[in-house]
Amino acid sequence: MRLFRRDPHSPSGRRRVLLLGALAAAALTLAPLGSVWASDQNVKMGFIVKKPEQAWFINEQRAATEMGEQMGFTVVRLAGEDGQQVLSAIDNLHSQGAQGFIICPPDVRLGPAILNRAKQYGMKVLTVDDQFVGADGKPMTEVPHLGMSGYKIGRQVGDAIAAEMQARGWNPEDVAALRISNNELPTARERTDGATDALLENGFDPDHIFDAPQQNTDTSSAFAAASPVFAKHGNFKHWVIYALNEESVLGGVRASEQYGLSADQVIGVGINGSGAAFAEFSRQQPTGFYGTIAVSSTMHGRQTAENLYNWITKGEKPPANTETSGTLMTRDNWQQVRQDLGL
Ligand code: GLA
Repeated sequence: MRLFRRDPHSPSGRRRVLLLGALAAAALTLAPLGSVWASDQNVKMGFIVKKPEQAWFINEQRAATEMGEQMGFTVVRLAGEDGQQVLSAIDNLHSQGAQGFIICPPDVRLGPAILNRAKQYGMKVLTVDDQFVGADGKPMTEVPHLGMSGYKIGRQVGDAIAAEMQARGWNPEDVAALRISNNELPTARERTDGATDALLENGFDPDHIFDAPQQNTDTSSAFAAASPVFAKHGNFKHWVIYALNEESVLGGVRASEQYGLSADQVIGVGINGSGAAFAEFSRQQPTGFYGTIAVSSTMHGRQTAENLYNWITKGEKPPANTETSGTLMTRDNWQQVRQDLGL
């Protein structure tokens, strides 16, 4: 009210009248959008990952942040290594005014609890990499997801192993497979199932496949799971190693070295194509880590961030499920593939 008691013809009064007019006009223009969707200027989103120290997730979060810098929104990078940490990350995002978040959850069965907390705050949620599973054990399709085509990529692992076995002239009778498994996580199971099927179709003996169930999705849990398997089946001359990701295959390869197997006795093929693989390929001498199916973590980060931005600002709900594909990366071509995938 104080505004109107001033003389509208004084210089400062005129400025105020102009300002009020401009604000009113802006409000009218924005009304249909602004009342429903956040203005583009203040979009903030979280990017929560289960393993913040892994190269795959570091790159994914970095790519999302860069997308935000290009498109004009803010990405808050957070760790969610267990349920408690995820819920406090969501509280934290809400208090910062974020309108939504992208998450790779530490346990897919936390899906209903995470979605519930997000709904309380009116936040939008997308999953990346690991899809939420509902109380019925089925994927929660109401939450848009972007992740690897697990089974297909797994098959690429199996085919790459079979081709390399043949190139090395290995007799299938002397070869065992170390399957580092994580059957609690559906994408992990799809990947190792795909690899197993492809190996079997290439004539691999099913009795030569040994499971090493890991507790987690990292190198140390794979190492711990793999060591006793080598010790128990010492009668094989050659080993192939596969798992849900390259970090886990690296754990298996390190265990094979500790057991005394040399690089030419082992073919390990991972999945991801991240810094972990680049470091391995950069070593002077080849190791049992033969290759990895590289997927663009850059694309996963950028695409999910863009999808969430469009959902927040335009109300466009992203597709229920987007599946991404991969390319075999070895010591011979890793730099080229890395460049092609923008890694
Ligand atoms: C899972 C794995 C990660 C990575 C992503 C990619 O989350 O744990 O290492 O492979 O999938 O989708």
